[in-house]
Amino acid sequence: MGINSNRGVIYQGPGKVEVQDIADPTFTNPAGKKIDHAVILKVLSTNICGSDQHMVRGRTTAPAGMVLGHEITGEIIEKGSDVEMLNVGDIVSVPFNVACGRCRCCRELDTGVCLTVNPARAGGAFGYVDMGGWVGGQAKYVMVPYADFNLLKFPDRDQALSKILDLTMLSDILPTGFHGAIKAGVGVGSITYVAGAGPVGLAAAASAQILGAAVVMVGDFNKERLNHAAKMGFVPIDLSQHDRLGEMIAQVVGVPEVDSAIDAVGFEARGHSGKEQPAVVLNQMMEITRVAGNIGIPGLYVTADPGAQEKAAKEGSLSLKFGLGWSKAQSLHTGQTPVLRYNRQLMNAILHDRLPIAKIVNAKVIPLEEAAQGYAHFDAGVAAKYVLDPHGVIG
Ligand SMILES: NC(=O)c1ccc[n+]([C@@H]2O[C@H](COP(=O)([O-])OP(=O)(O)OC[C@H]3O[C@@H](n4cnc5c(N)ncnc54)[C@H](O)[C@@H]3O)[C@@H](O)[C@H]2O)c1
Ligand SMILES: [Zn+2]
Ligand SMILES: [Zn+2]
Repeated sequence: MGINSNRGVIYQGPGKVEVQDIADPTFTNPAGKKIDHAVILKVLSTNICGSDQHMVRGRTTAPAGMVLGHEITGEIIEKGSDVEMLNVGDIVSVPFNVACGRCRCCRELDTGVCLTVNPARAGGAFGYVDMGGWVGGQAKYVMVPYADFNLLKFPDRDQALSKILDLTMLSDILPTGFHGAIKAGVGVGSITYVAGAGPVGLAAAASAQILGAAVVMVGDFNKERLNHAAKMGFVPIDLSQHDRLGEMIAQVVGVPEVDSAIDAVGFEARGHSGKEQPAVVLNQMMEITRVAGNIGIPGLYVTADPGAQEKAAKEGSLSLKFGLGWSKAQSLHTGQTPVLRYNRQLMNAILHDRLPIAKIVNAKVIPLEEAAQGYAHFDAGVAAKYVLDPHGVIG
């Protein structure tokens, strides 16, 4: 196999990650059972995500010692005896969800909540707390189970390598932004508000645009990220300017209301004062979304938050104005994105030059060994999406 030098990004406790030697991947699942439906990948690109930051900031129950990384694109270098549709040399996108392809949820393409890959709860992922113990892919090599079901093979190797900075976004943020937009009911002519100008917010904004939205507003406090969003053609909403989001939306579209709203912030949301208020985005969305409108919530919410300021929030309980949403007959859609539902179409949009997602999220390539700096810059709110390049193959 030629692997004897695996390295990976290890979570070492709040605020600290380090690249270290890690075990080579093997054909075994987290329970130690031998599996033949897996492949071993040489990782060509693997991105740092806002979801990783929740763990690295100590805002989850992630244990120290975990290998991080769920946004993986790679080349198959070895395959198990049950893998029928893929071959060594194929370049593939790995959905961040680990899914079995066999359970009721997978058969309905609800792959974000596969029932068999995580004994603790529904849903599996690579390198993520509470998601089944699958080893993460911010590494040189990684094992992917149920390969025939999970992997998306790129049609042409040279084309894939030439567009890898865009294609790397298919493992999570592009499908996640798109899922948010679909679940928010975005279509031709929609007035849309996206909370959060991070990579997921920008991916949601780009998705809303490709789905035909008439206006795409993106709100944040981070000036650098707002400037970048404006350059990409979205209407920036500077939340530090005003405490009434509705009034700022009215300045853009004439009424304090949108058809579709997407939460690309999650539970570490900040209120106007700068203080954390985990329910602020959800409450704002119910306020500004029209009656019978839809709210897509890719932003992550947790069942336990050791770093929460309020006691209830430590157990994942939020002060939600639920009656407001109920009285407006709104629909709210939550959960891990089922990446498989969208990644093939989005791949085609990239390959045919319809969706320049790397530019939109400002992809920045860094070596795997510099992962700690990438985490620090991203945490500081730099307007970029960091892509780790473990083998130095991205130009
Ligand atoms: N559902 C899924 O499958 C899925 C997949 C990927 C990421 N996520 C989640 O999506 C969220 C965003 O990810 P990201 O990588 O863009 O993270 P990020 O941390 O880079 O971006 C979040 C942005 O929200 C801004 N923000 C804070 N409070 C705000 C408020 N009240 N209104 C508007 N903006 C506010 C921050 O300034 C920041 O720029 C995270 O919670 C992440 O865990 C979910
Ligand atoms: Zn991610
Ligand atoms: Zn399943």
